[in-house]
Amino acid sequence: MSDVRQAVKEKYGAIASAVRESSQPAKVGCCGPTACGCGDPITSNLYSDAERGDLPGEAVAASLGCGNPTALVALEPGQIVLDLGSGGGIDVLLSSKRVGPTGKVFGLDMTDEMLALARDNQRRAGATNVEFLKGTIEAIPLPDNSVDVIISNCVINLSSDKDAVLREAFRVLKPGGRFAVSDVVVRGEVPADVRRGMELWVGCIAGALEDREYETKLRAAGFEHVEVEPWRVYRVDDARAFLAESGVDVERLAPEIDGRFASAFIRATKPAAA
Ligand SMILES: C[S@@+](CC[C@H](N)C(=O)[O-])C[C@H]1O[C@@H](n2cnc3c(N)ncnc32)[C@H](O)[C@@H]1O
Repeated sequence: MSDVRQAVKEKYGAIASAVRESSQPAKVGCCGPTACGCGDPITSNLYSDAERGDLPGEAVAASLGCGNPTALVALEPGQIVLDLGSGGGIDVLLSSKRVGPTGKVFGLDMTDEMLALARDNQRRAGATNVEFLKGTIEAIPLPDNSVDVIISNCVINLSSDKDAVLREAFRVLKPGGRFAVSDVVVRGEVPADVRRGMELWVGCIAGALEDREYETKLRAAGFEHVEVEPWRVYRVDDARAFLAESGVDVERLAPEIDGRFASAFIRATKPAAA
């Protein structure tokens, strides 16, 4: 297993265990359940009150995303949905209500502790059209042409083989199937030390793609109607305290940092003729 994958697994395993062991649903940020202050601008206010109110508090509290992929795409009763890196299961549970009893939602995650947390949340929500699968997003354990919609929330940036993820997403989607993902992207070129500091802030461990590179990789995997739309752009003040603590000379690099990282909606379609 790659060092990156092992590190990601350990980090999210620890977060999931901490959430499961706490008696109160604790709000988690990108760096875990102890408020480190680093994740709030990213993980806050992603879901409507109605969406949150409809779910177990524990599922809402375990949200580690950077957007709401279920708001990006119209889900219809009877559809099959796959969530790449489903974490505590918030987007799986929201989607399961929309596809209804004739549909099905798969959550895929490689971290045992996250799968256990997600299954707890499934039980609390009473969702019967949901299945959490163990596996990696680089080798999806589902057949070709079997899924209508792929969603994902702040996970693909963590993969060290994004081409494999997009190739696999394309393979499992049915012809005409949709890819509707929320992820962190870099806008334009960013110096290496700034990138490292920002990535630590954004997700503790991450490898965000440049927006144009994301589009190029999606097209190379075979997708059409590709769109990368930044919707929440991070300002230097969002990350100032964290970066200063990490040894980044924030004042000197402020112009390079400001506005260069964003949460984006990423949409694409597998051609109907594929
Ligand atoms: C930032 S959390 C996001 C969780 C969830 N999507 C949400 O919005 O709350 C990342 C999740 O992706 C999983 N993950 C990261 N890399 C993965 C990979 N290569 N294959 C499968 N799961 C992965 C982690 O175990 C973790 O649960």
